[in-house]
Amino acid sequence: MDRLSHTTAVTLHVNGVPRDLVVDHRTTVLDALREHLDLTGAKKGCDHGQCGACTVLVGGRRMNSCLLLAVAQDGAEITTIEGLSEGGRLHPVQEAFLERDAFQCGYCTPGQICSAAGALEEMASGWPSAVTDPDRAADQDAEIRERMSGNICRCGAYVNIVAAVGDAGRQDQQTAAAGRQAGRTAAAGTHAGQTADEPGEASR
Ligand code: FES
Ligand code: FES
Repeated sequence: MDRLSHTTAVTLHVNGVPRDLVVDHRTTVLDALREHLDLTGAKKGCDHGQCGACTVLVGGRRMNSCLLLAVAQDGAEITTIEGLSEGGRLHPVQEAFLERDAFQCGYCTPGQICSAAGALEEMASGWPSAVTDPDRAADQDAEIRERMSGNICRCGAYVNIVAAVGDAGRQDQQTAAAGRQAGRTAAAGTHAGQTADEPGEASR
């Protein structure tokens, strides 16, 4: 870094692509995405960490990009709403938002979806929230409302947002359960195959 310069070269890995930038030290990740990289999915609502419209995933964790300086994120892996789908298939949270009509104007929606994707990962990893009670079964809607409380929707689409995040969470659980079942079936098949092969081995 040039001591007399107000700029520094950084590389941000955005949606899997390394992007080289020279940024003013005051440039936030949100402004780097929107103004330097033309990725305008993340929105600027308050620019003060109050509304969640700018939420992206950094290293898989949801963060308010208006509060992050780009110069401090050199080398970071950043996923924006533009990179959330995989192989041309929408992320389950995106599909659930469409299915549930979980938006009106859509301004908060990219942040809501990125935040929900991060929140579901946190829930799946067993991270507690302020409403998690270890002695009681989880209240899914209460968990979602608490974990999504940093994402404001001025249109008040909260009822459908909670429903959409719940749907995506249930789908995640079903996919994980199916994966575990497939693993058990494969393991059982391998074991059965070994057992069935043993007479064959002996009869050779
Ligand atoms: S624009 Fe970042 S939290 Fe509002
Ligand atoms: S859909 Fe308009 S602010 Fe949320």
